[in-house]
Amino acid sequence: MEILQSAAALQAQTEKWRRDGQRIGLVPTMGALHDGHLRLVQAAAAENDVVVVSIFVNPTQFNNPDDFRLYPRLPEADAALLEPAGCTALFLPSVEEMYPQPSKLRFDFGSLEQVMEGAHRPGHFNGVATVVSKLFHLSRPHQAYFGQKDLQQVAIIRQLVADLSFDLELITFPTVREADGLAMSSRNRRLSADARQIAPQLYAALLLGQKLVMQKQLVAAIKDKVHSLLTADKAIQVEYFEIVDTQTLQPIEILVPRQEVALCIAAWLADVRLIDNLLFEVK
Ligand code: PAJ
Repeated sequence: MEILQSAAALQAQTEKWRRDGQRIGLVPTMGALHDGHLRLVQAAAAENDVVVVSIFVNPTQFNNPDDFRLYPRLPEADAALLEPAGCTALFLPSVEEMYPQPSKLRFDFGSLEQVMEGAHRPGHFNGVATVVSKLFHLSRPHQAYFGQKDLQQVAIIRQLVADLSFDLELITFPTVREADGLAMSSRNRRLSADARQIAPQLYAALLLGQKLVMQKQLVAAIKDKVHSLLTADKAIQVEYFEIVDTQTLQPIEILVPRQEVALCIAAWLADVRLIDNLLFEVK
């Protein structure tokens, strides 16, 4: 596995691969890798000739300076996990390499970013769209891999790819969970032992929500019951719990049979913010 640190080196390498007729898979990450990331890398390796994995803790997508400062950074451990998973080239740029000058570009995704993560993390999706566009230009992948754990991010990137005519296929993968249901996340490393014990409650809340949706309860009642389950534990601060349409991401007021819905949650456990979601069809 090669380690590339400059944008020019990545561009030169992927240009050569393209000339040689190699199919390129790209997996963008911020590192502190876990099985959720590695599943994407393995899928990219199975479906492409070469795989680029980027690890870059992207400052422009962090609305909270402490979250950026405390985000886990483990490049050596990550590199050791990537080679066996099938990564061909690890792109590990510095902030200066990715942003030689402050970016002035501003994206507006309209209603897609006015809810949930977009509403609670100002500027977040502008930073995501900026860095993902750069990674697409630098590596020119045939296929790019993203996890449904970040459902709204997938919707934003799908819109980005369509609006800017990126010539690539987006591939998405279901959320990989720990044995107790907690969605894998790099931020889980920052949970205290106590918070780690409580964290699976987020998934329990989503499962309760799903059960109540299937029982055709009213949306307001479902939200109340899910909030009650979560606030029973004082250590959990719910930021939002929403029932949304999986395509538009707009909150649903009335559930309709065969509708594709997502239950989405964001909550703080002490100073760590976690998100999770569950996608399914209403019966
Ligand atoms: P990061 O949080 O490192 O996630 C990298 C990719 O792994 C994303 O597509 C994310 O959805 C996926 N992923 C994370 N946890 C997962 C899990 N438990 N199961 C399945 N997939 C999972 O998302 C980002 O980085 C950044 O915003 C990025 C796209 C790299 C832009 O900076």
